[in-house]
Amino acid sequence: CGIIACVGSGRTVPTLLDGLDNLEYRGYDSAGVAVQNGAGVSVYKRAGSVSDIKDDISRAAPDGDVGIGHTRWSTHGPPTDANAHPHTDGAGDVAVVHNGVIDNYQTLRSELEDRGVEFTSDTDTEVVPHLFAEHLEDYADTETAFRRTIETIEGSYAIAAVVDGEDAVYAARNGTPLVVGVDDDRYFLASDVPAFLEYTQDVVFLEDGDVAVVRPDDIATKNVSGDSVNRAVDRVDWDPQETGKGAYDHYMLKEINTQPTALKQTIEGRLDVEDATVDIEDFDRGTFSEFDRVQFVACGTSYHAALYGSKLLDDVGVDSTAYRANEYDTNTGPACPDTLVVAVTQSGETADTLKAMRYAEADGATTLAVTNVVGSTAAREADHSMFIRAGPEIGVAATKTFSSQVVSLALLSRQFAMDFPDASPRADFDELAEALARLPSDVETVLDQSNARTIANRYVNDDAFFFIGRDLGFPVAKEGALKFKEITYQHAEGFTSGRLKHGPLALVTPSTPLFAIVTGRHNEKTLTNAKEAKSRGAPIVLVTDDPDAHSDLADVGLEVPSTHPLLEGLLANVQLQLLAYHAADQLGRSIDKPRNLAKSVTVE
Ligand code: G6P
Repeated sequence: CGIIACVGSGRTVPTLLDGLDNLEYRGYDSAGVAVQNGAGVSVYKRAGSVSDIKDDISRAAPDGDVGIGHTRWSTHGPPTDANAHPHTDGAGDVAVVHNGVIDNYQTLRSELEDRGVEFTSDTDTEVVPHLFAEHLEDYADTETAFRRTIETIEGSYAIAAVVDGEDAVYAARNGTPLVVGVDDDRYFLASDVPAFLEYTQDVVFLEDGDVAVVRPDDIATKNVSGDSVNRAVDRVDWDPQETGKGAYDHYMLKEINTQPTALKQTIEGRLDVEDATVDIEDFDRGTFSEFDRVQFVACGTSYHAALYGSKLLDDVGVDSTAYRANEYDTNTGPACPDTLVVAVTQSGETADTLKAMRYAEADGATTLAVTNVVGSTAAREADHSMFIRAGPEIGVAATKTFSSQVVSLALLSRQFAMDFPDASPRADFDELAEALARLPSDVETVLDQSNARTIANRYVNDDAFFFIGRDLGFPVAKEGALKFKEITYQHAEGFTSGRLKHGPLALVTPSTPLFAIVTGRHNEKTLTNAKEAKSRGAPIVLVTDDPDAHSDLADVGLEVPSTHPLLEGLLANVQLQLLAYHAADQLGRSIDKPRNLAKSVTVE
């Protein structure tokens, strides 16, 4: 879900609606705003996307100096008007928006119902305005009433509340992100910086346990007991221009096409091609010399980047395993003090990944966050951080951040090769360094020459889509299938090539195109497996740097420039991003906001 709040200087409703537009990638099944303007708290909310309800709100809502807004990704209760946020206390004294999950809401709800409170929604959130309203009766001072409310709730939350007659937003954070934007004459509060990036790049990242009172001319941060805590103003270096769609139809297409720039940013100042060395900000030589092995924890696309990273570490003789973060704690004591746990997470806020990091830390491991978001929870909690510097990514389907994550891991692999006592690189870094420096222009070539759209049109209405690859082609096959299913809603699966014959082959028909990744190395068996599928009638699309060599096998090819075998998979992945995009476009799907998915999942 996404929260936006605005305090000071009027123009609140249009600013909230812009903020909700910018945050729609965090949830889009219902939305609403509440405005406090001295004439009560007015709430407008509905099931539907922000664009569906925007006009109604601008027509109906009176403006004011203080307001809160929310776009929802359902957890408790279906997407209905009643379950949309903001939620109120019934009397209209208090309105609240919330992200996260309140674990003890059932107990709190029963207690409130016993005291005669009537609930109008199925949400866990609704207990908050009712409790807050009760505490307002008990305490003369609103801030104390709010802190008492926060003390009562358990779980993960980012909360913003407005109270009738007060020019202030009351906010609290625990386990779910909340960031304050500091403008010349007003403040913002949001779950993510892009919500207000067009107005200000000056931000205060709230931390878990913080309670903030934001007024038009001042912000006070305290802990829940009321002691002041100091939170510094940071400046984010994201370009406000990067938040718009520009001339593109979708954020996803823009983000695919801006990968050359993103990759240049990832590499800039970190790679010396002549000396074949890397220099990653705070990581002096020897930073990682006490570790024997690496464990990656990540989810979704970031997990595929971690799988890719694990292969890169294998190449420099570093023992590593990639875990799906949501399964990590089912392994008995996987980490120990000589383990470096690398959390790969674009947002730095994925609850499953944060939980795995904390689990590893409790086991004595050291953690390193590889993330796109400065000030994110992962960056703050980890012992070390490396920023992938891809710029803001708005499309729910991750694209440029995958490429920048993999390149960050390639740079890290060099650092680990130098630091880890047991590392034994298979080859010199010289050629890989040169190929890394060339990668942005190789991606440019793919973007300029891709025939993915034609191939997407040819197969888009088929029954299912299979992606196979070996070695570095395997994470690419997984990611290609994930991208395809996320935005086309068609059945797509990625396997290691050899797995095809152990079951999935039963699904192969002339209406199940097979995309075989034959970039990089170890491709002979993939070609054999593709032949097995071809002889059962499947159309074969080869992703390759040498289409002529396989013209007898492939029905059609997706070509990539030749480069270092460790990096060719990234070029193959760009082709598969374009394939998924064009297929989804052809089907008329909601590409930037696919059904049921959210960009950043801050609940477990
Ligand atoms: C969700 C998103 C995916 C994303 C994953 C991990 O599942 O829908 O697109 O890859 O979270 O997100 P992170 O921010 O940790 O990289």
